[in-house]
Amino acid sequence: MKRIKLWDKEFEISISFEQIQEAIKRMATQMKADLEDKNVIFVCILNGSFMFASDLMKELELPDAEISFLKLASYSGTDSTGQIKELIGFNENIQDRTVVVLEDIVDTGYTIADVMDKIRARGVKEVKIATLLFKPGAVKKPIHLDYIGIEIPNDFIVGYGLDYDRRGRNLKNIYTLVK
Ligand code: IMP
Ligand code: MG
Repeated sequence: MKRIKLWDKEFEISISFEQIQEAIKRMATQMKADLEDKNVIFVCILNGSFMFASDLMKELELPDAEISFLKLASYSGTDSTGQIKELIGFNENIQDRTVVVLEDIVDTGYTIADVMDKIRARGVKEVKIATLLFKPGAVKKPIHLDYIGIEIPNDFIVGYGLDYDRRGRNLKNIYTLVK
């Protein structure tokens, strides 16, 4: 599918599944070298990161790694609201552990900054961020990103976990809003 319609809006393909997998492989190579001998716990930020986390874990093959999930919501329609709600937290003890946060996309940076505050407050040894996508032109809260898959323009996208009002998460490729 080259073009799709979700609710009232048209989207066209911008990043193929194959390009996504290549980016994930590059990230995995880099991450494996850094994380191999650490007792890592990955924290997948739901809902958007479920496909990224799943494909990254398969490439990484870290036998001792653990994975947990944090469910947040910040977007309403096609705009970041800046207000982040925690819908489901996680119970794992992460004290003195290396935590790697898995995000689908860093847009304004508010969500990831909030996640970092929440995780640091739990007394971890170190926290790293791995984001599949990054919109450098949208940043309002600059934050250091340890692993970045693909930098993209400041356009609204869907697919591969990302939604437009709940639709589009299931799509294999990434699509950009047609203006
Ligand atoms: P931020 O707080 O503005 O950085 O936004 C982060 C969250 O907003 C991401 O985890 C996504 O769930 C969502 N988001 C940001 N940009 C997009 C987009 O282009 N399409 C769909 N969701 C997005
Ligand atoms: Mg997200």
